[in-house]
Amino acid sequence: MRRLVSRKKALTLVKELDAFPKVPESYVETTASGGTVSLIAFTAMALLAFLEFFVYRDTWMQYEYEVDKDFSSKLRINIDITVAMRCQFVGADVLDLAETMVASDGLHYEPVTFDLSPQQRLWHRTLLMIQDRLREEHSLQDVIFKTVLKGSPTALPPREDSPSQSPAACRIHGHLYVNKVAGNFHITVGKAIPHPRGHAHLAALVSHDTYNFSHRIDHLSFGEEIPGIINPLDGTEKVCTDHNQMFQYFITIVPTKLNTYQISADTNQYSVTERERVINHAVGSHGVSGIFMKYDISSLMVKVTEQHMPLWRFLVRLCGIIGGIFSTTGTHTQLSQKPSITSAAKVKFIRVNCTSACSLK
Ligand SMILES: *[C@@H]1O[C@H](CO)[C@@H](O)[C@H](O)[C@H]1NC(C)=O
Ligand SMILES: *[C@@H]1O[C@H](CO)[C@@H](O)[C@H](O)[C@H]1NC(C)=O
Repeated sequence: MRRLVSRKKALTLVKELDAFPKVPESYVETTASGGTVSLIAFTAMALLAFLEFFVYRDTWMQYEYEVDKDFSSKLRINIDITVAMRCQFVGADVLDLAETMVASDGLHYEPVTFDLSPQQRLWHRTLLMIQDRLREEHSLQDVIFKTVLKGSPTALPPREDSPSQSPAACRIHGHLYVNKVAGNFHITVGKAIPHPRGHAHLAALVSHDTYNFSHRIDHLSFGEEIPGIINPLDGTEKVCTDHNQMFQYFITIVPTKLNTYQISADTNQYSVTERERVINHAVGSHGVSGIFMKYDISSLMVKVTEQHMPLWRFLVRLCGIIGGIFSTTGTHTQLSQKPSITSAAKVKFIRVNCTSACSLK
């Protein structure tokens, strides 16, 4: 008997917890204004749910920074530079902080014509336009990261014409492996000759009148070569009016771990500042004419990860939209509806207690 009573008590307790109003059908009245509000509400729900779906489909890039602990691996330098001098007059190599000369066997010297063909010129102009936009709009970088591998290769297309004069320029291209320490990649007059304390360029045989360090950097990147990525120096073209000119590029390399849905790669981004000056010993501007790229490696590493909204969050947001609209429009229609109870006896009978969640007594 006692158990029955306690069970009944528990049942009424659960009943009191019921937060959902149950109004008999006969007290529910539908009106035209209520219908309009429902229609608007359902349209808004559908629209917002649809837009939310696009947010769900979209991905974004998350940037994280951490200390780069990888010191032992080699750094790969990918180079494609055209210098307006004959190949036998120029030499390219790398000296690193430890003053050790890195073998530059990976580089190929190819005689070419400095001026681009009309098609190549068009391609080059497009690349420069993209570079301009990249400098202004950083969000474009995210788009490039996302479309990596889908994008067209960033290498210069081959010539479509055959130039009449003999090639007077030299294209230096290929890759080198260097230690992961600061260093200096340079192109100067004469081939490099290693000697016990550093190295020297044999320049005595080359006449000063043939010096012309006008150059075009078609590609310069560090680390794995990934098609579709545009590096800050790609497309740089410098034409000099003086024979003795020095070009300096100060490069800071930032190791980057790229993790998108297309690709996951260990690569490097870099930032660059550049300087050029005419070498004239008579006025105190000393130095060696040539192209010098001083690079340094940042100790911080950037992790770029493509992120996606998880399904559970999408569902929660969807519930928020639908529930929110439903409850706000629900209050509105309740307020706008006039009481439709006709007989006074009924009024006495129905007492809606709103503090205990509108249950009928
Ligand atoms: C160097 O070569 C470029 C391209 O051929 C030319 O436009 C420029 O006038 C040359 N500069 C000098 C100093 O000869
Ligand atoms: C509503 O219900 C609460 C608790 O059930 C009660 O304390 C209160 O007096 C009731 N109010 C009216 C107006 O009936």
